[in-house]
Amino acid sequence: MKKFLDLISAEVASAFEACGYEASYGKTGVSNRPDLCEYQCNGAMAAKKKYQKAPIVIANEVVETLTANMECARKQGKTPVFDTAEAVNPGFINLKVSGEYLAGYLRRMEADENLSVEKAAQPKTIIIDYGGANVAKPLHVGHLRSAIIGESIKRICRFAGHQVIGDVHLGDWGLQMGLIITEVRHRQPKLPYFDENFEGEYPQEAPFTISELEEIYPTASAKPKEDEAYREEALAATARLQEGVRGYHALWQHILNVSIADLKKNYGNLNVEFDLWKKESDAQPYIPDMAERMKKEGYAYEDQGALIVDVKEESDTKEVPPCIILKSDGAALYTTTDLATIIDRVQNYDPDEIIYVVDKRQEMHFTQVFRCARKTKLVKEDMELKFLGFGTMNGKDGKPFKTREGGVMRLERLISEIDEEMYKKIMENHEADPEEARRTAKLVGLSAIKYGDLSNQASKDYVFDVDKFTSFEGNTGPYILYTIVRIKSILGKYRANMAGQSAAGSDGTSGALQTGILAPAGESEKALMLELTKFNGVIGQAAEELAPHKICSYIYDLSNALNRFYHETKILTHEDAAQQAGWIALLGLTLRVLETGIDLLGFEAPERM
Ligand code: ARG
Repeated sequence: MKKFLDLISAEVASAFEACGYEASYGKTGVSNRPDLCEYQCNGAMAAKKKYQKAPIVIANEVVETLTANMECARKQGKTPVFDTAEAVNPGFINLKVSGEYLAGYLRRMEADENLSVEKAAQPKTIIIDYGGANVAKPLHVGHLRSAIIGESIKRICRFAGHQVIGDVHLGDWGLQMGLIITEVRHRQPKLPYFDENFEGEYPQEAPFTISELEEIYPTASAKPKEDEAYREEALAATARLQEGVRGYHALWQHILNVSIADLKKNYGNLNVEFDLWKKESDAQPYIPDMAERMKKEGYAYEDQGALIVDVKEESDTKEVPPCIILKSDGAALYTTTDLATIIDRVQNYDPDEIIYVVDKRQEMHFTQVFRCARKTKLVKEDMELKFLGFGTMNGKDGKPFKTREGGVMRLERLISEIDEEMYKKIMENHEADPEEARRTAKLVGLSAIKYGDLSNQASKDYVFDVDKFTSFEGNTGPYILYTIVRIKSILGKYRANMAGQSAAGSDGTSGALQTGILAPAGESEKALMLELTKFNGVIGQAAEELAPHKICSYIYDLSNALNRFYHETKILTHEDAAQQAGWIALLGLTLRVLETGIDLLGFEAPERM
């Protein structure tokens, strides 16, 4: 469906044309003075120079035409676009749309399964690289933003009609694996994985649990600082794993299995779902050929034993170091796996675009990788590589978010603390069945976390303010859910009333009236309706700019408009059944828009709260 604003602009443009002016002057925007008008066109001022006329003269002519069109439509029994058009000094054109025209638009929106959003004319295949958890390391808040933002962008791009593949791209191929293998070896040297002469089947059972693994890694990663021999051992283990030594490979497989099962549970709790559970190690098979080709084609050369590709450019204002393809011991680095992963993705999915949702402190890494991929022709020229760098989630002290004791905040703990907070609020608010309250608290808690994050522009740092984010009032996830639940409750009561009436058979008619959305009867109703027309424009922008925060501010405005209308209107006790049914239809559409909005942000609403 066309955007409402475009339809309005087209109407004004044709009036400009009819008066002998270029149609482009008819471009119309939402008024920033809602007290005066709903829409405003400033084209008469812009046309002054070209036509050598006072803007107010032009505006008056256009308004005359618009007014004549309105009268003509009314006479013919058609719906005029505008109710009023006014020329105001020095040449503004102030407009109010007709309620019937507005209602007609919303009725079409209601009938459209995509709620007026047009699918992309040329759908792209987009890979979104997000999540980025590291195997054997617990998820912490640093990974939270990638998961939340990436998931939302995936849903938005999909809704806009693109084919989107989300890939978690687990970190499983770097030094951390060598460290864990080394630590396990020190603790259990007799395990067959370390016996080079072992030729039998390795045990099915992992030699550690997830909680042991989560203790092993930090212990191991602290040791190299004091113990040079340990460091050497870990480096060697990393290289041997990458070479494919059998025992190391089998042990690594155990680490993966144990860790991935746990990650799936954690991401599941966040309502985050990946299409691909690929890992850095999946890029390994591409590395030898890639390095060989880069060398042969003259892009890569050896420097102090390492294989590197220069990626600096003349216009650089800060130094961009060369891309290291292989270390002197032949081991792959973070850059190496990212480059080889591009090869994997191109071969298997032929994407038009890859979007990386990663901490903005990794920007230099991605500059190097993208430049190297282009220079060495790993990607077609028109393939886009986008880095969506996000800022840090800080505590109220302005420093990266920590536990109250000052330690690293684990994701599980953060979620359970928020859920607890929500549970308390729900139980205080009203009597609830504790079990249902727990379930509701989970949904509301997730909305608090996700909305708190997504309502900020991704690239900015933000303060994770538990009190603010969990509040039922203000620009928060719980407030949006509260609004949704309020609508659901009205609709539920309305349906129950209707069912009651038809059961009693009082007037012989059965069930709800099938009236669609009607022209607005009051100002707050019209404001709500105008807000609803913006939906397709907002989604288009959010998809274009990869900006979930635009959806947040839209559903916040829409919730405010809904609540204002609700407070001013007695819906359920209204005596005119047709009017009541019209309002119910309007609430139904608002509900769908809000629920679609939160689904695009990655959370859902409970039935009650
Ligand atoms: N595992 C990385 C980290 O924790 C993030 C991975 C991001 N994606 C990528 N293709 N490099 O920092």
